[in-house]
Amino acid sequence: MPINPVLVVHGGAWDIPDDMVEAHLKGVRNAATSGWRVLGRGGSALDAVEEAVVVLEDDETFDAGRGSFLNRDGKVQLDAFIMDGATLRGGGVGCVERLRNPVRAARKILSDSPHVYFVAEGAERFAEAHGITLCRNEDLVTPKEIERLKAYQAQYAGDGNGKDLFAPSGSREMLSHDTVGAVALDSQGNIAASTSTGGTLNKAPGRLGDSSLIGCGCYADNLSAAASTTGWGEPIMKLVLAKWAADRVQSGSLPEWIAQEAMNYLKQRLDGNGGIILLDAKGRFGIAHNTPRMAWAIQTSGKQEAGIQRDVK
Ligand code: GLY
Repeated sequence: MPINPVLVVHGGAWDIPDDMVEAHLKGVRNAATSGWRVLGRGGSALDAVEEAVVVLEDDETFDAGRGSFLNRDGKVQLDAFIMDGATLRGGGVGCVERLRNPVRAARKILSDSPHVYFVAEGAERFAEAHGITLCRNEDLVTPKEIERLKAYQAQYAGDGNGKDLFAPSGSREMLSHDTVGAVALDSQGNIAASTSTGGTLNKAPGRLGDSSLIGCGCYADNLSAAASTTGWGEPIMKLVLAKWAADRVQSGSLPEWIAQEAMNYLKQRLDGNGGIILLDAKGRFGIAHNTPRMAWAIQTSGKQEAGIQRDVK
């Protein structure tokens, strides 16, 4: 039986304002189109999620690549992960400051290294040694994000002793969570997942989120499912949520229900906010969020759908 490829992408889950809806929809559609170029010609799920995430990293609408949130020092620090469900090989980078497309470096780690992670300067050195050109951190910083950081720091002024500055937890769901990701099934029956982020606004330098942590923000196993999450990272990583969800697909339940259960679990267990995309090797998928909105797109043969909300079926 021929396998019909599927690609699902997301561009963050939060209270996306009306005037940003079009940009989010355009971004996820472009990513789906790019990933589909790979799948449609018989390419691998791994290549497809990489290409889709590159498009999202290049789009300043999202908290990934250039235009990401700034950390407390006013720098962009990026995390990304990519995983192959056929082999369970993964590649991740954390706290990188000079990579335009951290997913490209993550992919090189997956393909060309016996390791799974490189972080900070070591990751940048690995990337450069594998043909990826480094940029300056300033190249990743946008004026909009400088203003956003200034406004945030003015509102949530710290005690001046270098303590982390955070908005009260109740207001966090109103903050942007534009972490991006993709999951794909290819014509060979293999699945893959990738997630990329600039992390949280005003994060402490060196803080690593869920996105690049295997099983937390991203996971893929042909025997269960491919998952990518978005949202406030600390609760997601404490629950190892991507693996939690993938394992439940393995035990027989539909991804669309498991995705919703994962969001309920995140809310009930740790009052966490976010979203998830989940896809199994049969091409069944789920998209769920416990935030007011989430940007998503689905691409199958001859059909693309995109939206800013996903209702439970
Ligand atoms: N989910 C992205 C982060 O918290 O870093």
